[in-house]
Amino acid sequence: MTTQPYTCAQHTSVRQRTVPVNVDYERFFSKSAARRCPAALRQTAVYMHKDGYIKMGGGFPNPLTFPVVGAEFKLRDGSVVRMDETQMMTYQQYAMSEGYPDLRHWLIDFQNRVHTPPTFDPKHPGQFDLIITNGANEGINLALEMLVEEGDWALCEEATYSSALSMLTPHAARFHGITADEGGMVTEDLVRVLASWSDLHPGSKKPKVLYAVTSGGNPTGVTWSLERRREVYDVARSHDLIILEDDAYYFLQFSRPLMPSLLSIDVDGRVLRFDTFTKLVAPGLRVAMVSGPAPLLCKMRLQKDVGSLTASGLSQGMLVQLLRHWGHDGFLRHVDGVMEFYRQRAQSATRCAERHLAGLAEWTAPSGGMFLWLRVLGVKDTEVIVHKALQRHVIFVAGTHFTPANQKSACIRISFGTTSEEDCEKGLSVLADVIREEVSHQQQHTV
Ligand SMILES: Cc1ncc(COP(=O)(O)O)c(C=O)c1O
Repeated sequence: MTTQPYTCAQHTSVRQRTVPVNVDYERFFSKSAARRCPAALRQTAVYMHKDGYIKMGGGFPNPLTFPVVGAEFKLRDGSVVRMDETQMMTYQQYAMSEGYPDLRHWLIDFQNRVHTPPTFDPKHPGQFDLIITNGANEGINLALEMLVEEGDWALCEEATYSSALSMLTPHAARFHGITADEGGMVTEDLVRVLASWSDLHPGSKKPKVLYAVTSGGNPTGVTWSLERRREVYDVARSHDLIILEDDAYYFLQFSRPLMPSLLSIDVDGRVLRFDTFTKLVAPGLRVAMVSGPAPLLCKMRLQKDVGSLTASGLSQGMLVQLLRHWGHDGFLRHVDGVMEFYRQRAQSATRCAERHLAGLAEWTAPSGGMFLWLRVLGVKDTEVIVHKALQRHVIFVAGTHFTPANQKSACIRISFGTTSEEDCEKGLSVLADVIREEVSHQQQHTV
């Protein structure tokens, strides 16, 4: 398959131009988020970044003491991106928590081109904003901290990103998993769960938050269909949910045109979207962004003001130089190339699974991302299988770690991103052996 040229035009036609409902954002804040107020020093810091002031307010170090005064980054294609002394001084200095203005402006422009968020309209009550975070994980964690408190439940797919599940544990809050299939979250189950909430979880408050990995899902490799996206968004509207759209693999969908994001479909300003450069440029940068309605992002920024402050200045500086060097179109060409790389890896991992695991497991070929999600036949729990494979020096992750309550799972996540074809052959051959051993062991013990 050759990749069709990327086009953003599809996004603008997707949103049903319905009248927005006013979202009462305050209703969603946890008690700790509601108590959060601006940190005094960060208020002063706003002026420290403006011209025309004598700056005796902040604890800024003097840039004349910074030993590094320039940098060059050599790209794979041989071109060089440079940072001169003025830029180096800027990116090594403290910045506002939301990120460096030049990178933010580039990204805001880009998000508007790709997703056309409704809140971009100056008359929209939600008002679009964007903050830069230390990876998507920081953003998701900040959002959950803002929206969820002790005793709360949030909704997610029945198998979802394991780290997001772990983020709720310290808040004594839990996720309820909604059935999902190869089209994404199953709307009927979402409706059923919300309608029968008081029977399912007597005495607990109805969820206000739905977390979803909508493209090339981790761990499932599933990309939600457009129909499901629209349906789930409609349910979120009728039950007044905030959607946390974690779209780490958005550009790694294996076909074009890209499925429109939930942010594209949003009407009310109830989608908080998480994008990351981890899979598109490099995870060591720790640069990601949260886009959505300003009232939510404003609270998250207050948390950041007293936490990590900003994502690394040098990473942001390097990234903005790189993005300017590419421009929007160059960046889109770059991500198409990255997608093609993983698409070929996915195909090769799927062929390898067919050779070794046919009859032992079933799976749907991934439609994006970096994972092949297997359902092992004849077992209820894959923990022992994964453990035995580890003893033979092959690493997989057992399905249980992706379920909201660590339920037993017959699934295994195979990550094919960094594995060579030869290692994939060896790894899946070991997996086939341990599955056979385990199935025969279980059969002997049930006779
Ligand atoms: C679905 C999903 N969300 C978020 C992340 C975290 O990304 P980051 O490295 O930007 O924190 C990952 C990383 O694997 C992921 O798979």
